[in-house]
Amino acid sequence: MTQSLAVVNQKGGVGKTTTALNLAACAALEGQRVLLLDTDPQGNATTGLGVDRSQLDACVYDLLTDDQLREDPVHALRSVLIETEIDNLHLIPATIDLAGADLTLANAIARDTRLRNILEPSLDEYDIVLIDTAPSLGLLTVNSLAAATGALIPIQAEYYALEGLAQLMKVVRLVQNQINPALKIEGVVITMYDGRANLSAEVADEVRAHLGPKVYHRAIPRNVRLAEAPSHGLPAVVYDPSCRGAKAYWDLYREVFPNA
Ligand SMILES: Nc1ncnc2c1ncn2[C@@H]1O[C@H](COP(=O)(O)OP(=O)(O)OP(=O)(O)O)[C@@H](O)[C@H]1O
Ligand SMILES: [Mg+2]
Repeated sequence: MTQSLAVVNQKGGVGKTTTALNLAACAALEGQRVLLLDTDPQGNATTGLGVDRSQLDACVYDLLTDDQLREDPVHALRSVLIETEIDNLHLIPATIDLAGADLTLANAIARDTRLRNILEPSLDEYDIVLIDTAPSLGLLTVNSLAAATGALIPIQAEYYALEGLAQLMKVVRLVQNQINPALKIEGVVITMYDGRANLSAEVADEVRAHLGPKVYHRAIPRNVRLAEAPSHGLPAVVYDPSCRGAKAYWDLYREVFPNA
């Protein structure tokens, strides 16, 4: 069965996109058939794969809002899909159009399950689907959670790391109860961990005390190569496979997808 994980946290800059990109790349390098969906109007997952957003004439926005396109979900998905430079890694990109989605969909029919309905008929073609989400708990994130089998939550090893987590869990529960009973909390990954800083260790302890077995053993270290890679249009595991950040993402990949 296809595993689809939404990488979520309404806090900005906690490592959602970096995690989605690198896990997607690890899986693709391992020969898994991977679909990465960018549901953030910022489009960082799209540009992080070297795709020029200004050259695109359709994106996930069209899949969500274009009624004519939506009549044939398989064709619709194919028409927006980009085959990236990494074998086995397909991308559904986001352009700035997506910034209007919340408004466009506000009163639309089945507004919460539009992404799922488009995705479902094509799931057979993929082993792993990763959904990068925006730093918000709006309609786009709800659509992402509705389309997922699990929520993967990056938490930055910083002050206020757990702030907002209760609210996030509440939204996950709402989606579970009302739209997607199969949704689980897949796991929590501590990001931007600095082994030399007491604060990082304290925060990691606090996160583990709070969330226990849901927290992955491997924390992602703060590593400048992870931050540099997107400007080269590549995930760090491809751009610099030997850097500490890339190695950490490989460990995380094996924890998140032990059977892949
Ligand atoms: N482990 C890390 N070490 C160093 N820099 C990192 C690390 N993880 C992410 N970054 C950098 O920190 C910034 C925020 O990371 P990222 O874009 O992945 O977060 P995000 O949660 O997707 O942000 P947003 O909420 O805006 O979508 C980026 O510039 C990224 O390159
Ligand atoms: Mg992001």
